[in-house]
Amino acid sequence: MSFDITPSSTISGDSSAELATLLKQAEAVLSSETDYIANAANLSSLIFNAVEDLNWVGFYFLREDELVLGPFQGQLACTRINLGEGVCGKAFKGSESLLVNDVLNFDGHIACDAASRSEIVVPFYTQHYSGVLDVDSPEKDRFTPELLSFFEGVVSLYLQRL
Ligand code: SME
Repeated sequence: MSFDITPSSTISGDSSAELATLLKQAEAVLSSETDYIANAANLSSLIFNAVEDLNWVGFYFLREDELVLGPFQGQLACTRINLGEGVCGKAFKGSESLLVNDVLNFDGHIACDAASRSEIVVPFYTQHYSGVLDVDSPEKDRFTPELLSFFEGVVSLYLQRL
């Protein structure tokens, strides 16, 4: 099978029209599959390849009392994160998305990839699967509130298929 929705060019995220198109592409990717791992894998790839200046995109899932690495795109990553630790653990424990403009100023940031400089984490919770979507950039101040809303929109679509 092949997708005719593979993004042909990258976007910065400054254009709401481009973000809306990418969200439609995410919806299309999810429409033919319900498996949560397969969908997390393809969403990671879609975002990583479509949005400029990212060095890591992926999922962590709650396993007992820690977050465990799921599908991702980018360099090797930490496999387990304690709840409340790092940007991921804090977002998950606090039940709210975190947009970190400069990880060097975030107390407790976990540097899996030393190149990461800014980060967005969107937590999610369902009866069966909980976790976070983590998006990293090597650029300081890479992410805008619009991009945060976009990533929350992606997670919202993802949850509809769980
Ligand atoms: N930086 C994250 C750890 C995960 S990696 O970025 C892939 C954190 O502080 O939770």
